[in-house]
Amino acid sequence: MVIWTLLVAGAVAFAFFRWRARSEAVTPKQREALLLQDIGQPPPYPVFWVFIHLLAGLQWIVEQLVPPPLTAMKLLTGTLRAEILATLTELEVAEALAEGPCTADELAKQLGCQAKRLERLLEASVSFGLFALAPESQKGGPKKFCNNKTSAVLRKSHPNTAYYLVSQIAATTFKTVGHQTKAVRQGGIQFEEATGQDFWSYIKDRPQLSLAFNKSMAEVDRSLAPTLVKDYNWGRYSRLIDVGGCHGSFLRDILRQWPVPKGINFDQAHVIEEAKPIWAAYETGLQQKVEMVAGDFFRSETIPKGEDGDLYFMRTILHDWNDEKTLAILKACRAAIGNASARMLLVEVTKGRGWAIDTVLIAPMADILMMKLLDGAERSVADWQDILPQAGFKLGKMIPTATLFCMIECIPV
Ligand SMILES: C[S@@+](CC[C@H](N)C(=O)[O-])C[C@H]1O[C@@H](n2cnc3c(N)ncnc32)[C@H](O)[C@@H]1O
Repeated sequence: MVIWTLLVAGAVAFAFFRWRARSEAVTPKQREALLLQDIGQPPPYPVFWVFIHLLAGLQWIVEQLVPPPLTAMKLLTGTLRAEILATLTELEVAEALAEGPCTADELAKQLGCQAKRLERLLEASVSFGLFALAPESQKGGPKKFCNNKTSAVLRKSHPNTAYYLVSQIAATTFKTVGHQTKAVRQGGIQFEEATGQDFWSYIKDRPQLSLAFNKSMAEVDRSLAPTLVKDYNWGRYSRLIDVGGCHGSFLRDILRQWPVPKGINFDQAHVIEEAKPIWAAYETGLQQKVEMVAGDFFRSETIPKGEDGDLYFMRTILHDWNDEKTLAILKACRAAIGNASARMLLVEVTKGRGWAIDTVLIAPMADILMMKLLDGAERSVADWQDILPQAGFKLGKMIPTATLFCMIECIPV
């Protein structure tokens, strides 16, 4: 009864706000400007929990109402939708719509493509909620397309932009299509099977993709870091070592908010070279606190040596690797910590947080992505309980956040 009341109240509120938004006379330019202000930070954890369960409940109701063969066909369109998203991102359609709604002809002229084909892609994208028909067109004017909440994040200037995330995931994951059944039968890494190269070498050999990948990590920060920075007491450590820190944007966000005296951003040499000029543009106080260290997290001698009060942390690192390699990285970090009174923190997508969270936050899909690209895996708490003692750590506190990620404290033993 309570759930039904909440659902009905939610639906009424949703209809009201939609009606109000439509009836407010805003110009197309104002509409675009509003979309760019849509920062959409995750709410506090209890609100997030209730919201996720409501969404999952609504999704469940829809699934019960749709005939199963149609559900199967809809699922199959997932690949088509993904490719439409990737193409419209690559063509930078969202950017082209920044000045206001356009017809397919106008867009095609601007972007150098075929108007009719572009129009078909856009129509399809409207059907699944990426891009929208301009309100003027809905009243009988010429068919013009405009940005909505979702397509707006494909603009590089959006505060929560996902432009590089979409671009790099599409550029790598699409290569693996068609290799899955063989990999499930016989093992092997689908990305390597398809490209003849391991994921990291492939990226390293393609500077543009490498930059897109590294920028996409900073994009994750724009939307998720505020929660991760706030939900953990980083301030009780005297030095933070971000192992596999990429351009160091997460470390930057932590150090801007917590009074930690020192930080180290540790990554592969070519990534550290990219990171240096980015850091050179930050405020002097922040630059002085941070050291850029190049190395290999499989070789403990290249990882900064532990000191009392250190926190080593790894965000979305271990999910890239299979159990054997994960253990090797953890052991290398453990050796670097030595006898210092230090801790390790993992920030990882965590499987098994419950049906609702898995359904809405796509943790099982992230797991498949890791399997396809890297032979990696998203792990559950039980998995960490099994792996950590083998590397000389015990599982400490598990902190769920209002994101896909959990924070997992590891205590050296
Ligand atoms: C998925 S990204 C995560 C980046 C960052 N922790 C974040 O959450 O934004 C993985 C990172 O691991 C780094 N990496 C891969 N192999 C490495 C190695 N052998 N030694 C050090 N870093 C490595 C990559 O360069 C990349 O920056």
